[in-house]
Amino acid sequence: MKIQFTSQSNAQIVAFLVEEEGGLPEAASKLNEQCGGLLTEALSSGRFKGSAAQHITVVMPKSSGINRAILVGLGKINGDALNNRNQAIEIAAGYLVKEVSCSGFESLSIHVDSVESAVSAANGVKLAAYRYDEWFTKKKEEEKPSLIETSIILEDHQSAQTAWDTSSAAIHGTYFARDLVNAPPNVLYPATFAKHLRALEDIGVEVEILGEKEMAELGMGSLLGVGQGSVKESQLGVMKWNGGDSDNDPVVLVGKGVCFDTGGISLKPGDKMEEMRGDMGGAAAVSGTIKALALRKAKVNAVGIVGLVENMPDGNAIRPGDILTSASGQTIEVQNTDAEGRLVLADALWYAQENFKPQAIVDLATLTGAILISLGHSYAGMFCNDDSLADELYDSGKETGEKVWRLPLGPEYDKLIDSQFADMKNIGGRAAGSITAAQFLKRFVNDGVRWAHLDIAGVAWVDGEKPPTDPSWGSGFGPRLLNHWIAKNYES
Ligand code: BES
Ligand code: MN
Ligand code: ZN
Repeated sequence: MKIQFTSQSNAQIVAFLVEEEGGLPEAASKLNEQCGGLLTEALSSGRFKGSAAQHITVVMPKSSGINRAILVGLGKINGDALNNRNQAIEIAAGYLVKEVSCSGFESLSIHVDSVESAVSAANGVKLAAYRYDEWFTKKKEEEKPSLIETSIILEDHQSAQTAWDTSSAAIHGTYFARDLVNAPPNVLYPATFAKHLRALEDIGVEVEILGEKEMAELGMGSLLGVGQGSVKESQLGVMKWNGGDSDNDPVVLVGKGVCFDTGGISLKPGDKMEEMRGDMGGAAAVSGTIKALALRKAKVNAVGIVGLVENMPDGNAIRPGDILTSASGQTIEVQNTDAEGRLVLADALWYAQENFKPQAIVDLATLTGAILISLGHSYAGMFCNDDSLADELYDSGKETGEKVWRLPLGPEYDKLIDSQFADMKNIGGRAAGSITAAQFLKRFVNDGVRWAHLDIAGVAWVDGEKPPTDPSWGSGFGPRLLNHWIAKNYES
């Protein structure tokens, strides 16, 4: 989808954003006159009010030179809430794309009233226009999108273009993450994931890939234990974006990259097991964020570390009862081979602190089914050892719509993962499943290191109803949140 910013539309379909009970926007008045008041008629008849997601299509007379006009509702915008308005515009633009995409028309224009609104509209268009069609060979012509170009119409279109040049980087990060999450596990496994990371070298990212031999030399027995039942070699991907002063400490992102999670010997039930193709959603989020930073040449030093493995049952797989020695030296009794994400992250977190002096570490992981039970699909779970970091992430979540909600850590929960055989065990029992998982990770975070863990198991993909800006299975959660968080708090 091509996006452009101009002051005048020559598109086949012209759209206007309508606030609830706000009347016809100024930009529509000329066209309204030209067509004898068809637009005000559409606004005032029937049940159209301009509530969120409501839209109405008006077939335009030949003399107007355009085919259709669409009025799309923004809902009620509450006084102070600029975020609220930006997000309403994003969603409304998403509905427009959904509506027009396969309509047979090729061009759409959306009238907006400010540079900020223009960027939100462009975000919504791009997010909604994403498709993951790679594996269809029999799509009919009418099932393929016809819309190829969207123009955002406003006076100050040059400023909007400049803002979008920077802002669109995050969307490219989202696309990258979605592509990775959507990819099937026979095609996307640790080595092929690593190949996608190597491609980031083209945009200036330093990429290093460690194989099993290198990781064994570092003593990463915890991560390697998870991958040992798989014929696919485990990998650790390290991405460095050096956009800041060389003496600035980096922000470090760590991602769980379980390319497929069968559960291992503690095998998962077959129903919906295919969803575990998305168990590398954390690694995808980290990779997408690094891509976004590189594309917009962010003035920050950032490192992305992804632990890439496949969790399979096999004669050589780890067993419940096995004790693994992590790179930190701490030992782990494996009581359930399906609690593998924390085993991967334990060594990846160690690597992050052994090799870098992070200003902050944020890890992302589709870690527990329990977080779905607590928070559903609207918020990622956040666990954090530093209130200022938690506030930063919470605010960025609100501002981007990739929201996080804080849950507690604490010594009471820590006790639940003590083991009678080793330093800890990898499950804590039925109660507080997401918290004990986070508490496990905390044991691999050194004192004084600012750290947050985002459990994204509920938001990395959603079956069922979703906003139009999340059109494929994988949501691509993460890059928008983290890119914004870094831009706001860590760039010079
Ligand atoms: N990848 C899963 C978590 C998950 C479940 C993500 C559903 C997305 C949707 C993780 O590796 C896992 O299996 N966790 C177990 C932990 C348990 C054995 C302590 C779980 O949540 O059941
Ligand atoms: Mn698992
Ligand atoms: Zn998993």
